[in-house]
Amino acid sequence: MDHLTRRGRLHPSSGRLLAYITALSAAIIGAGCRMDAGRRQGKDEAPPGTSAECPRQSPKEWQDFIDLAAAETKWVDTCEDSTCDVEFYKNVKDNIQSVFDKCAALLEQNSTLRKCTQNLRDFVPAWTAQHSSDSYGFTLGNHAYLAAQEAADKPQNMMKVPPELVAAVPDPAKVVAAAQANGWKYLTHNSALGGSRTFIMIPDIDDRFDRWMLLNLQDKSVKTETPLSFIAVQKKNRDGQPLPKVRLNFRDYTLTQGDAGYRLTIDESRNGKCYACHVSGMRKLIHRRTPILEAAPVKGESGYGKSPPADFAWNRLQEFNARIAAYGLNDWDGAIVPEHHGPPLGEEFGCTHCHDGKIRSIITLSTSTAQLEQKLYYELSMPPGDHDAIALLERSEMSNPVLSQSEKDTLANVQDEHEQITEAFENARGPSLQKWLTATPCQ
Ligand code: HEC
Ligand code: HEC
Repeated sequence: MDHLTRRGRLHPSSGRLLAYITALSAAIIGAGCRMDAGRRQGKDEAPPGTSAECPRQSPKEWQDFIDLAAAETKWVDTCEDSTCDVEFYKNVKDNIQSVFDKCAALLEQNSTLRKCTQNLRDFVPAWTAQHSSDSYGFTLGNHAYLAAQEAADKPQNMMKVPPELVAAVPDPAKVVAAAQANGWKYLTHNSALGGSRTFIMIPDIDDRFDRWMLLNLQDKSVKTETPLSFIAVQKKNRDGQPLPKVRLNFRDYTLTQGDAGYRLTIDESRNGKCYACHVSGMRKLIHRRTPILEAAPVKGESGYGKSPPADFAWNRLQEFNARIAAYGLNDWDGAIVPEHHGPPLGEEFGCTHCHDGKIRSIITLSTSTAQLEQKLYYELSMPPGDHDAIALLERSEMSNPVLSQSEKDTLANVQDEHEQITEAFENARGPSLQKWLTATPCQ
């Protein structure tokens, strides 16, 4: 089948249930007697004026609340590369988060209710961050997240993009020339998000960090309406002490045109949800030949200034991916708590053999559905092992050499199998979440 026409999202969305929760909350808040009843029934240890604000008192009321929230179908939509559902987001804040806020004192005192609400209480703030319109989706807001990258314990200049690179924008040839002349290894390659990108990697002279940056390309120009995306992979602290695990510092720089060309600005309301796609930190670049795959030796390397040998870009890709793999799993340093993003998904498909939080990070409800589809279906790269089919996919994309009919059939069969896994995986997300949210009964 033609992979470009694969159907879109499968999940039906409703929001119906939350509307119901709203109605229920209103009914209960309206019925003051219910809250009085709660107080009369021996909640006298509650500080006056706190627990009483809480619209849910009895175990049954909490069980209903959890059941309704868990049955909501809209949780499964991720929105890292599309517009989030504003109305549902507001519903979650107004009708779920606000209840937890009002009931903090009650939950503090009642360990049964605390336990049965725990997963939902963890999940809602994590989900909210992943669906906000003005943040990268970390536990800290953007202002604090970005400031921490330049705090006193961080190596100096870790977040800096060289001015020679910015001066070369928007001409991709100048970008490449600047990379070559300054000794920055680079690769222009197709992206798992579509289109192509130039990736540039600049290590620190004291090996405290590697700076990775990318520019999106379109019509032989740098696409300046998209950001210059940047990750500093921090390996050591400012004093040169190695960190037990690398820390990733994500930042999207806005390319702003001024009189003297482009400059970088930091827009603190950018909302690219880095974690949704960067599940385990750094992302491997598409690991096969694609129609666009270009690199040349840079200053300091043999062959600099000459035209590159035939396999140079391919070797650069191997080198970049080996470097990315060698970092190992990153330490989110509290900016993401993967366990708050729902249960580890994909056990029934063998995913958790590797995506277990140790070898590779867990796949959660926050993992981009588009990237799951990309890895499972378009790239045939997950679950790993279909090397022969990936080789056919590469040849089919490159038309080199053209596939025979039987090879086309073989590829189509593997694609069908992967499509089935993709759909089954997608369909299991909602039920897995529901089961996890209701795992501990309230009564
Ligand atoms: C919609 C999915 C998606 C989101 C959201 C996303 N990325 Fe990425 N990113 C990717 C993929 C896929 C790659 C691997 C290269 C490729 O295929 O383009 C990547 C690669 C990168 C790289 C090159 C190093 C590496 O990990 O391979 C940088 C730098 C980067 N992203 C920065 C960011 C920053 C900063 C954010 C958040 C502000 C972000 N990305 C959000 C999908 C995403
Ligand atoms: C044998 C180990 C293994 C298994 C099993 C496995 N993965 Fe992966 N997965 C990896 C490795 C290694 C990477 C990084 C390399 C890459 O991106 O190709 C990865 C990357 C990914 C990514 C990109 C985010 C990330 O962690 O970098 C997604 C999404 C993903 N896998 C989904 C799945 C799903 C869904 C399944 C089950 C159907 C699965 N994987 C099974 C090893 C595995």
